[in-house]
Amino acid sequence: MIDLDGVGVDFEGVRALEGIDLRIEDDEFVTVVGPSGCGKTTLLRAIGGLQAPTAGAVRIDGDSPAVAQAGARLGFVFQNHTLLPWKSATENVTFLREMAGEEPRREEAQDLLASVGLEGFEDAKPRELSGGMNQRVAIARAIHLGADVLLMDEPFGELDEITRDELGVEVRDIWRRERKTVVFVTHSVPEAVFLADRCVVMGATGRIERVFEIDLPTSRDEDVFGSRAFQEQVAAVRRTLHESYA
Ligand SMILES: Nc1ncnc2c1ncn2[C@@H]1O[C@H](COP(=O)(O)OP(=O)(O)OP(=O)(O)O)[C@@H](O)[C@H]1O
Ligand SMILES: [Mg+2]
Repeated sequence: MIDLDGVGVDFEGVRALEGIDLRIEDDEFVTVVGPSGCGKTTLLRAIGGLQAPTAGAVRIDGDSPAVAQAGARLGFVFQNHTLLPWKSATENVTFLREMAGEEPRREEAQDLLASVGLEGFEDAKPRELSGGMNQRVAIARAIHLGADVLLMDEPFGELDEITRDELGVEVRDIWRRERKTVVFVTHSVPEAVFLADRCVVMGATGRIERVFEIDLPTSRDEDVFGSRAFQEQVAAVRRTLHESYA
């Protein structure tokens, strides 16, 4: 369980986060949505121990984020995939695990690559793959590390809409299969609703404006985008955002 208790972050006069109270259960998929500059990345960095809060505290299963990170319980996927250019897709997936002093498991890495649609690209280098394919490698790498918690900051930010939709379906499948806790930051409202069990809407002042329980089937594919339930919930989240920034 991830527990944020009164978390605030100040950057020399800029209040990036204020009074964040949020509890994320194990195996939950939580999305965080809001416009540019509202504090989403800062929130994710605070959860991951990359940014110390100036107020309040973050606990991961009762431990500080630093302890959780040292135990490889946190996996990060950022907008820029940060793969090593000289390594193949398989080597990139196994690399973090090797760094953590564990045996590389090439077969498991290759199965993971297949599960994100990269069968046949196991030996390809990042420059031989498209942006979306490299993001898939980065997702496989985070899962291979064995982290229980995946912290994802606009991982599909630079991708076209069709690829985003496809990867969204895949990430939900992976989440169900591997039973991870996911915190996923995006500025796309449809993406935030499609992926989430709960969607956290951030307001202009670095605060949580509202948390939506998303009411959609557990198993979701592209058909969900056309459903009325989906469209109504997207509209409700949008309304909250517009009211907050009016
Ligand atoms: N290292 C830093 N030093 C100073 N100010 C910062 C720093 N990081 C973030 N900020 C400020 O904190 C606020 C929140 O930034 P943050 O990056 O969390 O926003 P965001 O919601 O992730 O935006 P985006 O959607 O553009 O990625 C912004 O006003 C930003 O200028
Ligand atoms: Mg950001």
